[in-house]
Amino acid sequence: SRNIRLAVIPGDGIGTEVVAEGLKVLEAVGTKIEPTHYDLGAARYHRTGETLPDAVLDELRGYDAILLGAIGDPSVPPGILERDLLLRLRFAFDHYVNLRPVKLFPGVATPLAGTPTENIDMVVVREGTEGLYAGTGGVMRRGTPHEIATQESLNTAHGVERVVRYAFEKAKARPRRKLTLVHKTNVLTFAGDLWQRTVNRVAEEYPEVSTDYCHIDAASMFFVTQPERFDVVVTDNLFGDIITDLGAAIAGGIGLAASGNINPEGAAPSMFEPVHGSAPDIAGQGKADPTATILSVSMLLDHLGLHDEAARVERAVAADIAERGAARSTQQIGDDITARVSG
Ligand code: IPM
Ligand code: MN
Repeated sequence: SRNIRLAVIPGDGIGTEVVAEGLKVLEAVGTKIEPTHYDLGAARYHRTGETLPDAVLDELRGYDAILLGAIGDPSVPPGILERDLLLRLRFAFDHYVNLRPVKLFPGVATPLAGTPTENIDMVVVREGTEGLYAGTGGVMRRGTPHEIATQESLNTAHGVERVVRYAFEKAKARPRRKLTLVHKTNVLTFAGDLWQRTVNRVAEEYPEVSTDYCHIDAASMFFVTQPERFDVVVTDNLFGDIITDLGAAIAGGIGLAASGNINPEGAAPSMFEPVHGSAPDIAGQGKADPTATILSVSMLLDHLGLHDEAARVERAVAADIAERGAARSTQQIGDDITARVSG
């Protein structure tokens, strides 16, 4: 089989450090990977003023997948790199599924004391191209006491249906076969109604999947008090952003949370990244946990159809996590997991 063409965007801060460990594991698992690095991020922005040149975007389109570290740096005004680089990639490549597993590995300390490991095992299907991230709205009389700022949530029948269908397919393939729509239908009446009607309609095609509904505020509470309620969660872009940070917290912290920005039809490359940011406060010190990136690599392998390899990486991570004791450097954790993958 031909080599997998992988675009690597280490990005800013700890992104570089964690991506190096992810690639190490990828190499050790024995896949024929051909990585090409792209120096997008704060450094490039300062040097050339560019975030994501059109020519680079076009080039990235030709890869099988993208591995991304982290984007964002305090030296760049907030929002520029996030919007013009990270969100631009998600939108341009139509990553309408932002897949974020929330799974507690045995041996990990959850802040939910007394919760059995198996009670936290869900996957959040966050919509990735619409909602409040669409960026529509505007401002009037800016800077005056009469300023009016609006920010609109875009929800299309097409956009909602495709992500809901993906979530039902996921739920169907999991043992518990449960799907929960998380929204705020009691207040966001237009968008909520579209989401609820879509779920109800698609549910008729999936009689084996049980469906449930939870308001976002209540869901936030149940993530903490009854995480076992959730199997597959489908929700919009912003609710999904917020609730997956909460998910990361209950599953042992942001250092373990992996994600995939997925274009299920393969019309453009999917992009895998840890949920965490660039953590400038600890960058360059070898303190970052590369586990989230390594688990994202497992998701990448799975997406490319390399299911055995993906499972091997996840098992190696689980075994490493189960034996965690004294603090290790980024590189040491990467080396230890690599050794388990090769061994
Ligand atoms: C995430 C991040 C991004 C988001 C930011 C950096 C734009 O928080 O991947 O969850 O809001 O989606
Ligand atoms: Mn986020």
